[in-house]
Order: sequence, then structure tokens, then C-alpha cells
Amino acid sequence: MKLRPWVKFTLGLIIISLVIFLGYKYYQKNNSVSTDLLKQYNISKSKASETLNYVLEHDAYDATYLDEYAKIKYLEQNNFLDVIKTFLPKEYTGEEINYILVLSNTNIAKLKDMDHQDLENYYQIKNFNVSNIERYNAYQDIHDYSYADVVTHVNINLDLPPYTNTNTVSDGDNTLVLVNKYNCLPKNYSPSDLDYISGTQGQTPMRKVAKEALEELQKAVKAEANFELLPTTAYRNYGFQNTLYNNYVAKDGVAAADTYSARPGCSEHQTGLAIDLKNPATPSTIRLTEENYDWLKNNAYRFGFIIRFPKDKEYITGYQEENWHIRYVGKDIAKIIYENNLTLEEYIDLYQTNY
Ligand code: DAL
Ligand code: ZN
Repeated sequence: MKLRPWVKFTLGLIIISLVIFLGYKYYQKNNSVSTDLLKQYNISKSKASETLNYVLEHDAYDATYLDEYAKIKYLEQNNFLDVIKTFLPKEYTGEEINYILVLSNTNIAKLKDMDHQDLENYYQIKNFNVSNIERYNAYQDIHDYSYADVVTHVNINLDLPPYTNTNTVSDGDNTLVLVNKYNCLPKNYSPSDLDYISGTQGQTPMRKVAKEALEELQKAVKAEANFELLPTTAYRNYGFQNTLYNNYVAKDGVAAADTYSARPGCSEHQTGLAIDLKNPATPSTIRLTEENYDWLKNNAYRFGFIIRFPKDKEYITGYQEENWHIRYVGKDIAKIIYENNLTLEEYIDLYQTNY
């Protein structure tokens, strides 16, 4: 298409004006610091930044940090000034202040009480807990994991020896309760709503919610895959677990027993939410066939259960694979755990704990 010269000229003029106008707006945005204020504090125009503008206008300017203000990205959030005033004197750089500004209020509050910490590798990690930073660094030094994995592992205490300084679980009745080698139930804890379901050893006690979910699962497995799943044991009280564990220790020694049996108080069987299953049609030494397990692994979540000790997660759960041990957590949570290939430890740390 051929354009007349005057049309070309006008178009050219419009484009040039637009570029000049946008350029000017951009310049204005980046140099919005009031010239009067800059003059008053004897600051050169090249140092002007939105953050500098903000501290000047809020009477919080400190000449010591002039270079740092330019590095801090202004954010419209309530704690902006407070963070700057708190952390610049703690010798955090402007770049580091940008990391601090995106942390949770809890983490910022903890950081206030600490000496300078190197945050660069951690600030974007959702379950980062400032209180654990020294432990993350120590764990990172001896393991080849991503920073995100380091954070989760340390948060769930994997850097500490199991069964030392265990936390006493106070919410045994919570369907999401975590019981493991670091979190143990009081000796006298027992669930208040135990119910019974027929199992390989007669009537088997478990929490009512777990029983109802198991009944649904049993119907589905029969209809969809044509086999049966019966509980062998579910709820076990402290005394029962104590006998069981001691028998294993006598047979295999402590180290081996600890890879497959929980010490009394630290077994989630005591919650009444864990169930060991067996296909009654298989020989007594085989709980489930590979096909049975495949069905269970891919369907248990539909009824609110998770495979609690999966293969390849032994380093998280602390136990060998137990493809027959399911744990009730409720349908929504079981689905998230299944779809994201998580253990209960990881799920709670990533989705339930506020850092
Ligand atoms: N076998 C599992 C780990 C328990 O004893 O609770
Ligand atoms: Zn079990």
C-alpha cells in the first residue's frame, strides 16, 4: 500500500510524540522523588528511588543507608517501613531486605531477635521456618538435597536422631494427628469412639470414622476388583504395642526392629486410625498380592485413606515399605497426598503448618 507523503509525515510525528511521552512518564515514575526533599537532604538525583521517596516522606531517612534504599523494591505493605528500620541497622543489604519483605510476619518477628542470617536460598520456600535456619545449613552441608527438601526434612526433624526429645502429642483425637518416631502419644491415650469391624482375628477395634470409610472401601474393592480386604489389627493400645515391639527386639535386635515396628506410644495404631489389611484368600504369609496392592495404592484415597509407609519414602517415614498399612485422614486430604506423592509428614509440613 502506498501512502501519501503527508500521511507518512503525520504518522511519523504521532509515533515520535508517543515515544517521547511514554519515555517521559517512565522517567517520571523512576525519578518521582521530590526535588525539594532531595535538595534538603543533599542527595544527588541519581540516588532517587521510590523507597528513598517513601522513607524521606515518612521521616525515616538515615544517610548511612542511602545506597541500600536504591536496592529495596518499594512494596505497598503495612510493615514496609518497620522492616527497613529494623533490618538495615542489623546490616542486611537492600537486596536482603527484599527477601525479608516477602517473609511471613511470624518469620519476620523471629528474625528480629536474631543476628544477621543468610536468607538468599530460603526466602521463597513456602514452609521455610526462620527458627530452623542454622539446622538447614548444617543439613545442607552433609546432604545433596534441594533447598526445598532440606527445609521439609529439617522441619520434620530428620536431622535429629529418632526417639530423642520426642514431642508429646496432645491432639490424639484429631484425624490428622501425626504419630511417628518424633511425635508420640501419652501412654494412657486411647480414642473415645472405638467401634468394631470383623477382621481376620475376630472383631477388630478402630475409630468410628475409619470403620465407616473401611466399609466403603471393602464394598468398592469387591465390586471393582473382586477381592476382599480384612483388617488384621487396627487400634492397638500402649501395652499391646509394647509387647509387640519387645518381641521383635528379642527376635531381631533394636536396630532392625526399629525399621518395621514402632516403639510403644509412637505407633499410629494407638490412634485407632491405622489399619493393617489382608486379603483372606492369599496364604497366611502373604498379606496382599501385587495386583491387590496396585488397586489399594491407586484407590485408597477415594475412601479417605493413605498408604502410610510407601516404598521410596523410607527416609521420611523411618519405616520399611508396608503396603498393607493404611491410615485414615479423610477424603480431601488423602487425595492431595495421593496426587502429590507425599507422606503424612510432608503433607502436614507443607499444607497445614503456618510458618
Ligand atoms: N508397623 C508400624 C510401623 C507400627 O508398628 O506402628
Ligand atoms: Zn500397621
